[in-house]
Amino acid sequence: MTAYRTHLANDLSLALAGRRVQLAGWVARVRDLGGIHFFDLRDSGGLVQVVVDPESVPAASGLRMEYCVSVEGTVRARPEGTENPELETGELEVAADQVEILSRSAPLPFMIDDRTEADEQIRLRYRYLDLRRPRMSANLRARSACIRAIRETLDGMGFLDVETPTLVNSTPEGARDFLVPSRLRPGQFYALPQSPQLFKQLLMVSGVERYYQIARCYRDEDTRADRQVEFTQLDLEGSFWDREDVLATVERVVAEVVRRLRGVELSLPLPRLTHSESLARYGTDKPDLRFGMEIGDLSSVFEGTGFRGFGGVLGRGGVVRGINAGPRGFSRAELDRLVDRAKALGAAGLVWAVVQPDGSLRSPVAKFLDSGEIGGTVRVLGASPGDVLLLVADREKIAAGVLGALRLDLGQPPGHDALRFVWVVDFPVFEQTEAGDLAPSHHPFTAPVSVDEMRERPADAVAHAYDLVLNGSELGSGSVRIHDPDIQRSVFEILGISAEEAESRFGWFLEGLRYGTPPHAGFAVGIDRLVSILRDEPSIREVIPFPKTQSGADPLTTAPTRVATAHLAELGIDLTPATKASLGDEAGG
Ligand code: AMO
Repeated sequence: MTAYRTHLANDLSLALAGRRVQLAGWVARVRDLGGIHFFDLRDSGGLVQVVVDPESVPAASGLRMEYCVSVEGTVRARPEGTENPELETGELEVAADQVEILSRSAPLPFMIDDRTEADEQIRLRYRYLDLRRPRMSANLRARSACIRAIRETLDGMGFLDVETPTLVNSTPEGARDFLVPSRLRPGQFYALPQSPQLFKQLLMVSGVERYYQIARCYRDEDTRADRQVEFTQLDLEGSFWDREDVLATVERVVAEVVRRLRGVELSLPLPRLTHSESLARYGTDKPDLRFGMEIGDLSSVFEGTGFRGFGGVLGRGGVVRGINAGPRGFSRAELDRLVDRAKALGAAGLVWAVVQPDGSLRSPVAKFLDSGEIGGTVRVLGASPGDVLLLVADREKIAAGVLGALRLDLGQPPGHDALRFVWVVDFPVFEQTEAGDLAPSHHPFTAPVSVDEMRERPADAVAHAYDLVLNGSELGSGSVRIHDPDIQRSVFEILGISAEEAESRFGWFLEGLRYGTPPHAGFAVGIDRLVSILRDEPSIREVIPFPKTQSGADPLTTAPTRVATAHLAELGIDLTPATKASLGDEAGG
């Protein structure tokens, strides 16, 4: 197959018994059993056991972990009783008569196996070794298979793969931009793209009717388990499309990825929830549908209640909602901890109640509730004796958020195999910021369902915007776009972006919209998130070959690093005295 090998480990089978083969790879485990040496040879395909007699092959005595070697020998069945059913090649071994050390390994910073949990900082510092671990190399292969599935599906549907630039102007996706200084125009900066949004829309103006790209995006935000400053999207867009075209296309792609990575057939079309339904029933716009425990609305049950705790909230336009956490046997201390947790999440309080065998409630507030309220609560929450009920009376947003978070704390998703996709559709056009301003709920290029409604009552306007959610994670989002420059201007106006500012930031884009722009719509799927969930990994870092740490650093290359003062000067940049001081020197370079 190559100059160094005839087969990969996993190509070997007993059908090749008696054949001479040449293998190359790394020494994964060495055992010396009474003078005969055994080692596992690992290559990109798998592992195979090699047996060698150091008397006749002296190089065998010098083998250490992770040495890179080539081996020649004969395939044979393992002696009865020594087979290893966990290994694909567990029935055979290679009796080597030649072993050549191709290169030696320094002592390892951690063991290259899936059992050893090394510190993540060390794993990232030596990522090239970490990627030798079977789990990590399987993740790399899954990622590659995912991208291949995407490309093959979309190429087959006539999509054009178009690259958009990465030294660009700001694309507003709600995060900070990474800036790159221009040497030729000192004092001016490129932004790295938060997404290819505006370019893909201009490609629709260009007559590219079906576009996609495996696009690297950059957002200067705090990293988390499902967020990196640098990540990859499947970005796509279509002309003469509406929502159904987008959803059907994304479903086809995702179904193919799931088929190849999980061997599972998704049943299409995927279910849908409206944004308001999702908030009401799950307290979030990214519901985890792997378990029930839906939020019940108890406001009508407590209408006119004599219990002042609830009555006061309802009188001020608030809501009473609850979840049924099921039979729990919580201790008093555990219930108190739930109350503290609800308060930490922003609720004024949490009422707990345990349903008694006679249908009454054991609860600190039981004495304030009449039988109709108790019966109504039990009915709405579908409760049985022994169930623990958790009720929140508050403003709607807070009640939904707190119960949604408690639901996730207490819910028990089944293991690895469960995949519950759901579309969340009909997002609002805008959302209220903490300061009371309107901000785009998706991004400012999203079409409202009704332009008149948006102009008259922007806070209530519904958008042609949708998210794809998998097991409680936002996998992707998209929308029908505004293709009329006047409507685009209205959106900027509502957002408080003046005509001058809109012109200076997006004039180039708005101008493009003036040249016969087709109606268009599109979507972007976070590839890192998709692969990590399908691989059952707790963080997207496990499926990104060379990720950054929580603080946005790369322990391998040590990026970000300082640059020489002369280099900064060339770019017309001088660090502030405070920054220089924080770097611990006056020169700043
Ligand atoms: P959005 O900003 O929702 O939409 O991004 C789409 C998807 O990209 C993934 N994603 C991330 N993954 C890892 N780290 C991050 N920091 C990160 N940020 C986003 C998520 C998310 O759902 N231009 C629009 C799409 C469109 O309208 O077509 C956009 O970028 O999975």
